Amino acid sequence: MEFQLTDDQAMVQKTARDFATLEVLPKAAEIDRDHRFPKELVARMAELGFLGIAVPEAYGGGGMDVVSYVIAMEEISRACASTGVIMSVNNSLVCDPINRFGTEAQKQEWLTPLAAGKKLGCFALSEPEAGSDAAAQRTTAVKQPDGSWIISGTKNWITNGPVADVCVLFTMNDRAAGHKGITAFILPMDTPGVRCGSPDDKLGIRGSKSSQIFLDDVRLPDSLLLGEVGGGFKIAMSTLDGGRIGIAAQALGIARAALEDALAYSQTRKTFGKAINQHQAIAFKLADMATEIDAARLLTLRAAWLKDHKLPYGKEAAMAKLYASDVANKAAREGIQIFGGNGYVTEYPAERHFRDAKITEIYEGTSEIQRLVIANYLTKGA
Ligand code: CAA
Repeated sequence: MEFQLTDDQAMVQKTARDFATLEVLPKAAEIDRDHRFPKELVARMAELGFLGIAVPEAYGGGGMDVVSYVIAMEEISRACASTGVIMSVNNSLVCDPINRFGTEAQKQEWLTPLAAGKKLGCFALSEPEAGSDAAAQRTTAVKQPDGSWIISGTKNWITNGPVADVCVLFTMNDRAAGHKGITAFILPMDTPGVRCGSPDDKLGIRGSKSSQIFLDDVRLPDSLLLGEVGGGFKIAMSTLDGGRIGIAAQALGIARAALEDALAYSQTRKTFGKAINQHQAIAFKLADMATEIDAARLLTLRAAWLKDHKLPYGKEAAMAKLYASDVANKAAREGIQIFGGNGYVTEYPAERHFRDAKITEIYEGTSEIQRLVIANYLTKGA
């Protein structure tokens, strides 16, 4: 067993840390306060190769491994969780399924600009009545005599939706077949009949734009079908397995921000004649935060390593997300406690970490769904 980063992984970490510290962190509070999509940081992530890290270089990607993706996600999310999720969706939920299920022509046309960051992607699975129960899709796809498809329905909470050029879209083309009636498409967002609602007004990750997507008699050629007719649910589920590794890494970054900011504050803030980290009440909180963050990181890197080695990783990805999101929320809560009154005001970053952490227990499968997934593997003996 090897715990050391390779030279390439160490280089990704340094590049991501420098970018996060020098370019992202100084803007994080403003991005949050103004609910501003950080367009210029997305452009820089494209230049740095962070929008398709694990996509082969032949298709415009960085040609790196999933471990490198986790490392970069942690660094960038440590600075700004909004910027982190923009990156995560493009990598895990858009590039990854097109890379795995797309035809050669689809990869040339869509994956290459997405991985290079010339286009930005979104992933539209959730609907007003299909959140945790992802198979309950109502968006319809009806095949036409000329071979094209007509798609109608509504998608909800679609991260990157209002700013995306391309969408990996899930539809129902045969309701009687249940999850085997779900079919995926690559949807260019400028197709007539596609409209985004107003951006969601969110508790946290306010720089990441999400919205409803309304699909009104959208006509798509058969060449935009992703995978097979009826194969969409397996594309969605296997894509989310990888996505959960990305969100675990985002949670890690938020947890680390909560710890590092609280540690720095605890060295300068004095009570009863000494720095507050000299009181065990605070020192023990910091020790617990650091230990739990390390455990979450090890779970996340294990899931990434398994994916890199083409070994089963669905259970491990769910464990990583479940635990890392819990750690992020605990660390953010304790971070506020360490900051005391200063933790409750927007002048300091602690309250932002608290608001940003919450979503990691909700999107890409709630913590309850992660437990369900893990329990299903256990009962199957996996
Ligand atoms: N990979 C491949 N196939 C899988 C799979 C996986 N990980 N998990 C399940 N399947 C297959 C099963 O093998 C089964 O196939 P067969 O019928 O051929 O045997 C089929 O899918 C159905 O499986 P289940 O019976 O387990 O499906 P289910 O309807 O009970 O649902 C669930 C399972 C785990 C609850 C699933 O609905 C789920 O993951 N829900 C959460 C949805 C979610 O994570 N949404 C996130 C939205 S995207 C987002 O959040 C992005 C963002 O904003 C950043």
